[in-house]
Amino acid sequence: MYKILEKTQFSEKVFKFRIEAPEMAKHAHAGQFLMVRANETGERVPFTLAGWNPEEGWVEFIFMVIGKTTEMLSTYEAGDSIKDVTGPLGMPTEMAEGPCAVIGGGVGLAIAFPVAKHLVETGHEVHAIMGARTKDLLLLEDQFRELLDDDHIHITTDDGSYGEKGVVTAPLERLLQDKAVTQVFCVGPVPMMKFSAMTAEKYNTPITASLNPIMVDGTGMCGCCRVEVDGKTKFACVDGPDFDATKVDWNDLRARQAAYRTEEGQSLKAYEE
Ligand code: FES
Repeated sequence: MYKILEKTQFSEKVFKFRIEAPEMAKHAHAGQFLMVRANETGERVPFTLAGWNPEEGWVEFIFMVIGKTTEMLSTYEAGDSIKDVTGPLGMPTEMAEGPCAVIGGGVGLAIAFPVAKHLVETGHEVHAIMGARTKDLLLLEDQFRELLDDDHIHITTDDGSYGEKGVVTAPLERLLQDKAVTQVFCVGPVPMMKFSAMTAEKYNTPITASLNPIMVDGTGMCGCCRVEVDGKTKFACVDGPDFDATKVDWNDLRARQAAYRTEEGQSLKAYEE
């Protein structure tokens, strides 16, 4: 059992759990993830590490309520325990030397933040491009502002309620035109990553995407997290989750993510009734 030390609510549907996990905290790296099972009969769901502290023995993950498991998790409070947490899993994020743009969209900002922090700590100049549908859904702004100067933070919202109205590719394109960055990391919804990849490719700039397919075991055995990269089948849980974004088959990923949408909806409905 893994005890929840702290629960933070960022918006109506977005939460952060800090859980007691001293061994995981010792081995955690930016870009890795955890597999979480809420209770004995629950499904296993991947969540990327959003923070960790080896001295204090905890790790954190952020989730948005989108289905039965996340709905159930959102009812847990500090002091409650989660049945299983496995990790850290997956390959850590690695970037070459040089200035980087780190793009996070929606809940992807929870993954982008530890990557940006890691890059700053390893001597990179970092521009954060933060995208959300609305101001209320923009995560971790305070944390990004503690990490970076204001001129290295670029915010977009779809509805224009905060920052620049539009999508993340506009500030990305400006940074690429100015040659302000030599590599890009992105994480978020599939269309955002796809169009970020197309933008970076236009400027011959390497771009890495953290992929988020459905996972079951998280250890390379079930094949559920298959993704097509450069015409080859890869397992996101052990070969990734980071891949060259220009080589990802985005249409295949999007279709696979939606494969169980009907069943997920039925399961959520049954849980709520
Ligand atoms: Fe099973 Fe990756 S989640 S192989």
